[in-house]
Amino acid sequence: MTSLRYDPLTQALHWIIAVAVVTAYAIGLVREDLPKGDFRTWLLTLHMSIGLLVAVLSVVRIGWRVGRTAPAPIAASPALQLAARAGHLALYVALFAVPAVGLLAAWIKGRTVGFFGLPLPSPLAVDKPFAEQLEHLHAFVAHAMLLLAGGHAAIAIVHQFLLKDGTLARMLPFLDPAPNRPAE
Ligand code: HEM
Ligand code: HEM
Repeated sequence: MTSLRYDPLTQALHWIIAVAVVTAYAIGLVREDLPKGDFRTWLLTLHMSIGLLVAVLSVVRIGWRVGRTAPAPIAASPALQLAARAGHLALYVALFAVPAVGLLAAWIKGRTVGFFGLPLPSPLAVDKPFAEQLEHLHAFVAHAMLLLAGGHAAIAIVHQFLLKDGTLARMLPFLDPAPNRPAE
């Protein structure tokens, strides 16, 4: 019988990456309003480390996902299935695009990026005006990503608890993956 859930590694990576994205986003926003100083600088280092972790874990996730069949999609019209696939694809793209633009912005500004204590000095020429444009682009794609992820989460919750088709249970080890199935 085809499994109704994603496998445990896919589930674990999905939730670890989701928490990392939201944490990186929150740190990015909060530090904007802090006065310049050691704490603000430390938060940027933490922001960059967590952001790079998102990209690294996403490589593992996609490597694991390729060639593996996802559970059969929930019954829906072809248009809705296509919309769900397009939304997931956009989220996968954002998992790389947001950290990549952040990394470029930091390097082109001349910053040494840290990955949990491992220094990654800039291999690129410094160009502060271009770096500032990239910072704006980074902020824009990060906001767009969080909007998309918020919509994605809301849709999953509506499916699980209003339409009762077990969508959220596909990504969790608990909850009923087939609440609409007829009683045996
Ligand atoms: C999923 C990953 C990431 C998310 C969601 C994210 C999100 C954000 C957000 C919301 C801001 C504040 C933008 C603003 O309001 O102006 C920000 C700023 C920034 N982020 Fe990221 N970011 C991520 C990854 C990274 C990575 C990997 C790097 C670099 C290695 C990076 C470097 C920066 C820099 C340099 C800034 C600007 C700091 C400043 O204005 O001084 N980010 N990020
Ligand atoms: C930044 C946060 C998030 C990102 C980047 C993200 C990304 C993704 C991606 C790319 C998939 C497709 C998996 C595949 O088929 O390969 C997926 C599936 C899923 N996600 Fe998320 N997600 C996030 C947050 C959430 C949250 C907060 C929830 C629930 C409240 C959620 C619920 C689900 C569910 C139920 C699925 C399976 C959908 C299906 O089988 O059609 N996700 N997610």
